Amino acid sequence: MTSADSVFRVGLLGHGTVGGAFAELLPEQAGRIEVLTGLRPSLSGVLTRSRGSFDEILAGSDLIVELIGGIEPARSYVLAAMNAGRHVVTANKQLLSQHGEELWDVARRRGVQLRFEGAVAGVVPVIRVLQESLAGARIDRVHGIVNGTTNFILSEMARTGATFADALSEAQRLGYAEADPSEDVDGRDAAAKMAILARLAFDTPVSLQQVRYEGIEQIKPDDLEYARELGLGLKLIGTAERIGGGLSVRVHPAFLYPGHPLASVNGPFNAVTVESASITEITMSGPGAGGPQTASAVLGDVISAMIPPASTPPTMNALSFVEDVVSAFYLHMEVADQPGVLAAVARVLAQEGVSVKSVVQKGLGEQARLVMVVHPVLESRFAAAMVKIAALPVLRTPPRAIRVIEEEFG
Ligand SMILES: NC(=O)c1ccc[n+]([C@@H]2O[C@H](COP(=O)([O-])OP(=O)(O)OC[C@H]3O[C@@H](n4cnc5c(N)ncnc54)[C@H](OP(=O)(O)O)[C@@H]3O)[C@@H](O)[C@H]2O)c1
Repeated sequence: MTSADSVFRVGLLGHGTVGGAFAELLPEQAGRIEVLTGLRPSLSGVLTRSRGSFDEILAGSDLIVELIGGIEPARSYVLAAMNAGRHVVTANKQLLSQHGEELWDVARRRGVQLRFEGAVAGVVPVIRVLQESLAGARIDRVHGIVNGTTNFILSEMARTGATFADALSEAQRLGYAEADPSEDVDGRDAAAKMAILARLAFDTPVSLQQVRYEGIEQIKPDDLEYARELGLGLKLIGTAERIGGGLSVRVHPAFLYPGHPLASVNGPFNAVTVESASITEITMSGPGAGGPQTASAVLGDVISAMIPPASTPPTMNALSFVEDVVSAFYLHMEVADQPGVLAAVARVLAQEGVSVKSVVQKGLGEQARLVMVVHPVLESRFAAAMVKIAALPVLRTPPRAIRVIEEEFG
């Protein structure tokens, strides 16, 4: 028998992919959780668009799980719950990346916990590792593959030679991409997750608006074919790193050499690498999304909240943002097949201080394809070279560029 005192009442907002899986998982695990915590968790109410009352659920709950998604009404519900003294668990990356400071401030002032392991990289426990396990390390860089949809699409394009559109259709057929995949493929979803990771890694306010991001819609099968010839793999990489005294947070497609720890992460998987002088490097990987997987991360947070105390992010020093960073690039050009083209391109690159590492040239009748990898250079200098190259009369289509991460590990 369980007495009323030993029941821990969990109010659930949202009963979709993750909320539905959570509602099944909680009763399945309740007995084990009672052994662990001395409290038996029980669903006290469920809110969707068509059922439940938020006020009633709040009044009857010790903790609120928010799995509605988006900004409103999720933000108002989370704030109301914390202001009423309830712990909150959420998987809502958009809310945290846009209103995190407001939410953490209320959590601190009210002395309640705001937990969000499911918001980044699904079940991969990266939030807990940054907040707890690595709290004593000075982190220099966090980078990773934090969007499973785009990683699946790029893996399919590399594996089968499919176009972006065909690989996206396959991702939708297999349930790895939503009916509206725009936030995944344009990089915004990954940018929101990198804002959250950067906030935790560097103890500085970071919001989605401060993250520069690019997506994968413009990637062509050609790019992947040339990458193979150059021995590179293509990933959508999120990076948050200290540069000088500042911080750069960005998301963009990038080529990786085979020895890179993120190069072998394929399909819908996520992986995050944390680097610090004191720990060298840790890479965590696993399923990045999915109802049952994310529900498991959410339940882990609920259990942690049942065992106090836990920390909310401390007040921190504000780091400035570094806009211009150094990167190597792959450069793809469709050009006229005539003498002097390579020299014309090389001249423009030299004017901007961009030096060429490797070149592949292929004749295609009247046209030729020129693919280069250039050595690391300030992105602004490379962008200036791209503008000049695009204006060369020998160019048949606008040049395409993708960053190359040059480091090798291990
Ligand atoms: N899906 C994943 O794999 C995954 C992975 C990691 C994180 N997340 C995050 O988890 C959260 C939930 O995602 P999901 O995929 O489970 O979403 P979902 O399947 O779209 O479910 C959303 C739920 O919220 C309810 N809802 C929507 N608007 C509402 C409103 N105004 N008032 C009350 N209820 C409302 C919906 O009600 P109805 O049932 O009435 O439509 C539905 O039950 C999001 O923050 C998402 O980013 C999802």
